[in-house]
Amino acid sequence: MWSDNDLTGTLGIKYPIIQAGMAGGPTTPELVAAVSNAGGLGTLGAGYMAPEAIRRAVRSIRSLTSKPFGVNLFIPENPHEDQMKIEQMTEELNRYRDDLHIQVPESVQFTGQPFEDQLNVLIEEKVPVFSFTFGNPSHHVMSMLKEHNVKVIGTATTVREAKQLEKNDIDIVVGQGSEAGGHRGTFIGSFEDALVGSMALIPQLVDAIDIPVVASGGIMDGRGIVASMALGASGVQMGTAFLACSESGTHPKHKEALHSSTDESTVLTRAFSGKPARGIKNEFIVEMEAGNAEFPDYPIQNALTGDVRKAAKAQNKSEYMSLWAGQASRLSRNLPATELLERLVDESGQVLENLN
Ligand SMILES: Cc1cc2nc3c(=O)[nH]c(=O)nc-3n(C[C@H](O)[C@H](O)[C@H](O)COP(=O)(O)O)c2cc1C
Repeated sequence: MWSDNDLTGTLGIKYPIIQAGMAGGPTTPELVAAVSNAGGLGTLGAGYMAPEAIRRAVRSIRSLTSKPFGVNLFIPENPHEDQMKIEQMTEELNRYRDDLHIQVPESVQFTGQPFEDQLNVLIEEKVPVFSFTFGNPSHHVMSMLKEHNVKVIGTATTVREAKQLEKNDIDIVVGQGSEAGGHRGTFIGSFEDALVGSMALIPQLVDAIDIPVVASGGIMDGRGIVASMALGASGVQMGTAFLACSESGTHPKHKEALHSSTDESTVLTRAFSGKPARGIKNEFIVEMEAGNAEFPDYPIQNALTGDVRKAAKAQNKSEYMSLWAGQASRLSRNLPATELLERLVDESGQVLENLN
């Protein structure tokens, strides 16, 4: 069967379909468990979650499924705290605060969640699969994960990055093409040089490394799955396609924006977080990109825009929300995750039959 291979074997899943861990709320325990129960690999996007919140979510997933699932975290970075940029940006953001009727926050915490503590929860809770983006874990972290038999999935946007991940004993590499929604995972060199489309990236990764490669970026249906496997990938990781699922925690305005989007709707921007990410173009992106204030590094900019994004969500103001989405967002389907998985599998079989 097309779906039995090194990836499904390593992860102990039925179909080579991974639901991307998407930080910020979309990947509820219900979504993760539904995908895993349907034979894929559900993943909790836990990058922004406090360690104890991760523990609660993992326990909740476990109460809903006995199948393997993953938790995704961010490899921490050392941003440069440029006071001038921070002050100018705070000033720039005040007009959105005025518009949303919120106060300027008294203080902003620039550091992200404590990575080692997040990781310890994964080990303590015996999470079977750990995936990550924005870097390559230290040898210490890798040996801890190996010691506890955790399967590890890393993100690469270039061959150079994939080789480094393979050298670090990572089990599986997700090749993130430039079509992908959300943040770029680039951690070596400039992000502009690493904007390689999936059609070009995947076969080059497959030729360069000996561990399973998973394709991601713009894959929405059976056509994308079979095409990825034709390029040599062992499976796919899909984000945007799962954002529209009924179990996802995606904001209703974000779902609406996905459905009314076209192939020309998304752009790459640093405006929300300081790190390049792909989302549906809105007023905030257009104005901030055109403005004079430079974006502070990730995750400082992410922290600075936090209150604006939160208030925009509460007030249903999609023009100020981060509407992350890949270039094929218009192909998203508002279905329960189980049904989406079934359709993806049926469509893949159908595409293969047609090709034969
Ligand atoms: C809303 C959203 C949030 C995302 N958050 C994460 C994340 O927390 N960690 C991660 O490794 N990738 C994240 N990604 C990227 C996905 O792993 C994947 O590369 C991408 O979704 C693939 O492209 P597609 O959206 O066209 O399917 C996110 C993507 C989206 C759309």
